[in-house]
Order: sequence, then C-alpha cells, then structure tokens
Amino acid sequence: MNILVLGSGGREHALAWAIMQNPKCDRLICAPGNAGMDQIAECAALDILDGSRVVQFCEETSIDFVVIGPEAPLAAGVADRLRAAGILCFGPSAAAARLEASKAFTKEICAAVGAPTAAYAHLTELEAARAHIRSHGAPIVIKADGLAAGKGVIVARTEAEALDAVATMFAGEFGTAGAEVVIEEFMEGEEASFFVLVDGERCLPIGTAQDHKRVGEGDTGPNTGGMGAYSPAPVLDDAIADAAMEQIIRPTMAEMARRGMPYQGVLYAGLMIEGGQPRLVEYNVRFGDPECQVLMMRLGAQALDLMLACAEGRLDRMAVNWADDHALTVVMAARGYPGAYDKGSVIRGLEGCPADSAQMVFHAGTASAQGQVVATGGRVLNVTARGASLQEARDRAYGMVDRIDWPEGVCRRDIGWRAL
Ligand code: AMP
Ligand code: GLY
Repeated sequence: MNILVLGSGGREHALAWAIMQNPKCDRLICAPGNAGMDQIAECAALDILDGSRVVQFCEETSIDFVVIGPEAPLAAGVADRLRAAGILCFGPSAAAARLEASKAFTKEICAAVGAPTAAYAHLTELEAARAHIRSHGAPIVIKADGLAAGKGVIVARTEAEALDAVATMFAGEFGTAGAEVVIEEFMEGEEASFFVLVDGERCLPIGTAQDHKRVGEGDTGPNTGGMGAYSPAPVLDDAIADAAMEQIIRPTMAEMARRGMPYQGVLYAGLMIEGGQPRLVEYNVRFGDPECQVLMMRLGAQALDLMLACAEGRLDRMAVNWADDHALTVVMAARGYPGAYDKGSVIRGLEGCPADSAQMVFHAGTASAQGQVVATGGRVLNVTARGASLQEARDRAYGMVDRIDWPEGVCRRDIGWRAL
C-alpha cells in the first residue's frame, strides 16, 4: 500500500522508520519530511495544514493511508477532509482534536464524567482571573486555553508569578490561544505519559514513557519540547495503567462518542501519579515527541498494523506484542535552544552510527544540502537505542552520541536518571 506521513520532526521520522519495516508498505512519502526521512522514503513539499491540497496530493499519488504526526493539521481538520474524500487516515477529527486544542474543553469533559484531574476554573476576563488567583494562592497553574506550541503553561510558585502570567496571557502573548485561560490546582507527584489507540469505540494501550522537559541536567532550566525520553515508564505500572484506563480514558472516550465526536487515533494522556493514583494533567491528540521515537523502536513493524486497525475501527481484534525491552532517546539540540540558536551548521559522523532494529538516529530539524546534513531547527537529532535493560539502552544511545561530530550541538547527559 502507498502511505503518506505528514510532519517533519523526529516523531515522524520514527513513524516512517517503523512503517517502512512492515511489508504492507510498498511506497512511503513524507511531507514535508527532513534529511533523515529523505534517506528512507520519498519527501514531498506540501502545505500540511491545507486539507484540500493534502487530499489532492493523495489522489495524484494514489495514497491508501495517511498518518498525521503533529497536532496542527489535526486541529485544522485535515483528517476530516481526508475521510470526506474516502481516504483512510490515522488521526482525530478537528472536533475530537479539541481535547488538545482547548484545555477548557478537556476540563469540562473530565468534569462531566468525573475523571480525576486538577480542580480548575475557566476564565475569560483578567479581573476575574486575578481574583481567582488571590483567593486560591500559590502554587497554582495558569494555562492559555488554546494551542501555544507547548509554551502556554506556567506553573506559578508565587502569587505574583501567577498574576504576571495571566496579565501576559490576556495581553496577547499567545495570540488568541491566551484570550481565555484555565487556572488549575497544582498537583504534586511524578509525571508519566500513557499512549492509547482509540478507534472511535475501543481503546488499546500501546505503551508508557517518560520525557525530560527541562533543558538542563537534573531537570532544571526552561521548558522545552522534550530533551529525551524512555519507555517503559517504571512509575506507570500495570495497576496504575488499569486505573487510568477505567477512571480517565474509557469514560472520556465514551463521552466523546456520546457527544457525536468519536475519537480516532492515538491519545496521549499526560498523567500525574501520586500515592498509587493517576490524575490527568492533559490530553494530546498525537504521539509525543520524543516519546514516539522510543515507542516506535519498541513496536517496530507492528506499529503500522496497529495504526491501520485503529483507522479501520477493528482494534477489538488487535493485541500488542511486547518484547520485555527498554528504549531510550537522547535529543541533540542546537546550542542556545530553547532560546535563540544558529541554523545551518554541518553534522558529521552520522554514517558511523548503527542503523538497525535496536539503534537509530532519528532526525528532527535537519535538511540535506550539497550531500551534507545540516541543522535547521532547535531539536535536531534523536539518538535512540533499545536494550534488555534501560541501562543498556542508555549506554548504546550515548555511545552513538559520542560518534556524532557536531560541535554546535548539545545534549543532556542524564536522560533516564529518574528510572535508573
Ligand atoms: P501541559 O502543556 O499541559 O503538558 O503542561 C506542561 C507541564 O506543566 C506539564 O507537563 C506539567 O509538568 C505541568 N503541569 C501542568 N498542569 C499541572 C498541574 N495542574 N499541576 C502540576 N503541574 C502541572
Ligand atoms: N514531549 C512532549 C510532547 O510531545 O508534548
């Protein structure tokens, strides 16, 4: 079958890599792709937010199945356009993607079904937000309602910081995303990510992971898109996963179907775990990046079968074959990230890194120029390895990092510390 992957990050390279291992895939196109995807598939320049253009491209190139990587095309309704054109697609409708695109929407759904999550208030005026903060005190969490590229959440340790945060949001720091805010109770605990496929009706857990959001070692410094990840997440054991399925995921998915917007695709639940109980931090309507890289390394070729079954509404007949293994990924970023960084530096030594079912360098912000790989983004490479233990996966990953010759790149040296 002919498959199209939409996106250009490490997540999409990992999806493409897993799909390519499945003999069902005859032809793989990535749009727009990056230098890594270019080595294993065809890349096509395409505006992936333009649903009618994506449909037209699929018709021209006889695409049978589309996998949508990032949230922006989902929120823009690209999955709806594809389905309306009769093209099989993995990813939720724009209506269901509101689980990520609107924090207030998700809080309201959770409240309707009694799913455990932080207490909250949804506010549309600065004065009311200020009053709410003053009456609740700190710590408190302030969130821009809409999509803000992962930057719309402020965990305020003091009341002054919280008041500042709402002032900036209502002043337009996040554009329309911050015209409404959600203010939440601060939850204590350890965070982990839980990934579940949902075919509109049935839910199938496909793995757990933990990422490192802070730029600095010891989980310090500013937040990023993620500096590394590993799977499985030891803190999210089977009992907690069962509790999350029964108390949070199944009830919210049933409520979505009941409201006429059944969810289809991967649901990424960010959980806060404390005292053996999970609470929902947030939903995302896509794979995590870089969590996807470790999940794909563990799932391999079956990832395509699972995504197809999800898109075709037959998850009841599927099971996940888990090896008793671990995977870990180290993000190499351009020096300066998440602040300002230079683009265009040359990365050498990639050809010396193994590329097999247990070790892969997934590309994020890269491009090919005159036969060389150059850095074009903040997060640039995801050096990923699998092992019988987390320690083995980590040693392999850092072994590859050390072969990469990229003086302008930096990475954390402590990925996985919490679990080791
Ligand atoms: P989000 O973009 O919603 O994932 O939030 C970013 C990060 O903020 C999360 O990964 C958590 O570390 C933190 N966070 C969000 N909501 C809460 C909360 N209610 N209590 C504590 N931490 C939170
Ligand atoms: N790594 C966090 C995310 O993808 O949202």
